[in-house]
Amino acid sequence: MLQGGNGGRDSFSSKFGVIAAAAGSAIGLGNIWRFPYVAGENGGGAFLLIYLLFVAAIGIPVMMSEFVIGRSAQLNPVGAFKKIAPGKKWHLIGILGVVSAFIILAFYTVVAGWTLEYLVQSVKWMLLSNKIGFSEMDNEAVRGFFSNHYETFVSGIWRPIIWFVVMMFFTGYIVISGVKNGIEKYAKILMPILLVLLLILVIRSVTLDGARDGLVFLFKPDFSTIKEAPVKIIIEALGQAFFSLSIGMGTLITYGSYIRKKENLANTAVSVAVADTFIAVIAGVAIFPAVFAFGIDPGEGPELVYITLPVIFQSMAGGLIWAFMFFLLLCFAAITSTISVLEVIVAYFSEQLNMSRRKATILAMISVGFLGIICTVSSEVFSLFNASPDLMLPLGGFFIVVFIGWFLSKEKSRSELSSNGAYRTRFYRLFMFLVKFVAPLAIAFLFALGVYSKVISLFPGIG
Ligand code: PHE
Repeated sequence: MLQGGNGGRDSFSSKFGVIAAAAGSAIGLGNIWRFPYVAGENGGGAFLLIYLLFVAAIGIPVMMSEFVIGRSAQLNPVGAFKKIAPGKKWHLIGILGVVSAFIILAFYTVVAGWTLEYLVQSVKWMLLSNKIGFSEMDNEAVRGFFSNHYETFVSGIWRPIIWFVVMMFFTGYIVISGVKNGIEKYAKILMPILLVLLLILVIRSVTLDGARDGLVFLFKPDFSTIKEAPVKIIIEALGQAFFSLSIGMGTLITYGSYIRKKENLANTAVSVAVADTFIAVIAGVAIFPAVFAFGIDPGEGPELVYITLPVIFQSMAGGLIWAFMFFLLLCFAAITSTISVLEVIVAYFSEQLNMSRRKATILAMISVGFLGIICTVSSEVFSLFNASPDLMLPLGGFFIVVFIGWFLSKEKSRSELSSNGAYRTRFYRLFMFLVKFVAPLAIAFLFALGVYSKVISLFPGIG
């Protein structure tokens, strides 16, 4: 995927390569694990509607801005700002991005490790399925079985650590090799298979008795749910949009720096955002009908997917084979995301601190390793890290759009978006309006509300 070009720097070799890599970064656990449970906790339909609005009005403009910055500077997020705005403090946005990358990579790789546990277990369960009586279990029993496994596994010490370390190694290995033939080759084959598999699960799920309630929950906005905790719901929708699109921390500045000059940035951003959102919604359509059909609580929290999917698997011919395939693909989807987060740190270490790619990767892995191990042993730290994207990414995104809207010259952003006049930029005025006014004002307002509500929840006396 990355090839020579751009003055000796690596670059993506084709339009498809760019989209595969950026969509690979965007599509991951955020869509299949995080989206359904966050939507479930926040009332379903109304959350989805707000989420979609944020993706369109804020997410896509931020993504385009990141591509513009990355491609025009051809550097990591810190170096990019130093180059485009020398002598100013804008590069602190890059530093914030690198810090966010450490935090996100730590908890994300832990969850990615869970997929390995479930992958291995599903082989074991397949082999033992007669003994454990999987095909004869009723729904209640299947749920109990998986929920018990989830509890014992997640609260254990060694297994989560081991899977985390394994996942970290895979990620580091791919990043060290410069992302060349490995991940892109597999991502191109496996991501479409993941989509097909999800669609099969959707078909099974929506044909369950009682599925309708799940679809109503997901697609029919019930605004009375928002009244209960409006700030929380809106902030989490914004945070989830940033997290799912991989924006606000320089991942796409970094990937943008590998995009060739002739590629159309706006098209790429829209395709990636559409693909990412489609997969999240499809994951919701696979999960919620089953949640309602089997009487699971949609607000179950992080284990939602891990206890809902098995009941769907069990109601399908082939049972645990589906489980195996699903966790395998989920694991690949996670890796195409973890490498993009690690790449932010590695690009920073190697370009700004003059390290070899290898040394940079090893150093990053060791430091993230410490943080990740803390996440596996402390559920408080895990929850804190898992909640941090909700504020950190919008904060980064705010400065990114302000930079493009108010600092970078219009000629520069326009020529970057039009690839020096090769493409028409009919949307440019709309884009400018969004990055100048809509996105910064909306993010600033919501961020302030978010911080306020966090403070209130920590010190209830003030409110
Ligand atoms: N977007 C990824 C997902 O949805 C996670 C991610 C966040 C990747 C931030 C890179 C940067 O799974």
